[in-house]
Amino acid sequence: EKGGYDYFMLKEIAEQPKAVSDTLLGRIDASGSLSLDEIRIPAHVLREADKIVVVACGTAFHAGLIAKYAIEHWTRIPCEVELASEFRYRDPILDQRTLVVAISQSGETMDTLMALRHAREQGARVLAICNTNGSTIPRESDAVLYTHAGPEVAVASTKAFLTQVVACYLVALYLGQVRGTQWGDEIRAVIRDLAQISGAVERVLETMEPVRELARSLAHKNTVLFLGRHVGHPVALEGALKLKELAYMHAEGFAAGELKHGPIALIEEDLPVVVVVPSPRGRSVLHDKIVSNIQEIRARGARTIVIAEEGDEAVVPYADHLVRIPATPTLLQPMVATVPLQVFACELATARGNEVDQPRNLAKSVTVE
Ligand code: F6R
Repeated sequence: EKGGYDYFMLKEIAEQPKAVSDTLLGRIDASGSLSLDEIRIPAHVLREADKIVVVACGTAFHAGLIAKYAIEHWTRIPCEVELASEFRYRDPILDQRTLVVAISQSGETMDTLMALRHAREQGARVLAICNTNGSTIPRESDAVLYTHAGPEVAVASTKAFLTQVVACYLVALYLGQVRGTQWGDEIRAVIRDLAQISGAVERVLETMEPVRELARSLAHKNTVLFLGRHVGHPVALEGALKLKELAYMHAEGFAAGELKHGPIALIEEDLPVVVVVPSPRGRSVLHDKIVSNIQEIRARGARTIVIAEEGDEAVVPYADHLVRIPATPTLLQPMVATVPLQVFACELATARGNEVDQPRNLAKSVTVE
């Protein structure tokens, strides 16, 4: 049942190209527009929405953080992303014009369920993004967009995460399409780019041996830091979460711009720091800033593990280890940049003798608050 892999997690990491293309399947029509009639929220409701609130936990929350960049950019609707466990306890402002997006692989997470119940009580519409047909969260929502990742068995979420990002982007693009924002041409271009992402993930998977080797060489370490900016920031958070839950190591993700506001004090000789580098072609200012961050931490002794696009030569002098990912548009980079971090955490867990599919103290679906 593990399809020749030692662990379900390895199998599920390998299934990501298919999971991504299955989630796009049938949702883009021949003219290159989105057809998401399955959402069944009337177009006028989507046009009138004046706020989007994403609620989720853990890895699904990180997918939501990434989605915020895409949603605000393509729809110009203000978007908040909140941990489901915090949401209802702070008296959030919600009404009929609020669209709440609840993201959950299992569809049974109690915190997320309680958040969406609270939102509906206040009159908000709830759209679930879920991987499990007929589970509680989609049943209690106004609408659902299923991710088609297939069953995820390993406790650590991998393929579900990538498809959550894809599904959120479909929602963002669909809202943009329905509302006719100024980004019409860009939206069509992104839909074309999204269709290429599965192939890019495939290429990343083919080049992971050096990442595994690196992970094994770091098995004795206590701490790993992760830095990123823009959509790379949630990717850094996700890389750190994977390492905590699988390798039981102290791991933290930071926004690279925050480095000099505190975290840089943590840098010491030979501390592994993973840096997710934005594309030099997109928001090139951010790229240049991250390159100086890498320089700064390396000057203080950090062992830099740099995840950068093919062809990005500016990072080469400062990278102790360089992991190449295919060039993608800025907003799509998380789908390729997350993959090496999953492989890294999985291999570190194995090297440390941990149970990969069933990390200690964790359950696949968290049905208590
Ligand atoms: C991390 C992980 C958890 C889940 C979280 C939400 O690898 O799996 O952080 O993402 O418990 O679960 P769902 O998506 O089922 O609501």
